[in-house]
Amino acid sequence: MSYRIEVMHGVNLDQLGRRDPQLYGSLTLAELEQQVREHAEQLGMRTRFFHTNHEGQFVEHLHSLAGEADAILLNPGAWTHYAWAIRDALEIAALPALEVHLSDVQRREPWRRHSVISDICFATIAGRGPDGYREALARVREELQRLEAAGR
Ligand code: DQA
Repeated sequence: MSYRIEVMHGVNLDQLGRRDPQLYGSLTLAELEQQVREHAEQLGMRTRFFHTNHEGQFVEHLHSLAGEADAILLNPGAWTHYAWAIRDALEIAALPALEVHLSDVQRREPWRRHSVISDICFATIAGRGPDGYREALARVREELQRLEAAGR
């Protein structure tokens, strides 16, 4: 069975294409998701996509993932920096998770340097634009293979 990857985008990421292309690139969210879907297929993995601008919906979607996904690739947008409820829900989901950001959050405003989820994610990829998602998928696959080999 191929790995099932849940790709979750948070607040304002539906506005890609209108946001600063220097920071976020020029793809729309639909175009980015299409690229991610294709890259995942090349790696033999299945993707499912979720976006919302509502924190509670993001939390409830995380609650619903048990048995539905093998790993989570998430970009929560600005929630990354302060949404403790999302951190708790990610912990409850108890799935291997990778954090991804289009922009280089470490080299922007100081408030973007802190992530409430990075210590419960097995990796963070930031500042590589849409290409970062390709790398993220490869890292997710490696991690799932590692866990499988370890019998977990
Ligand atoms: C972002 C970085 C966040 O700081 C910002 O609020 C976003 C997008 C990124 O992908 O670079 O909305 O997560």
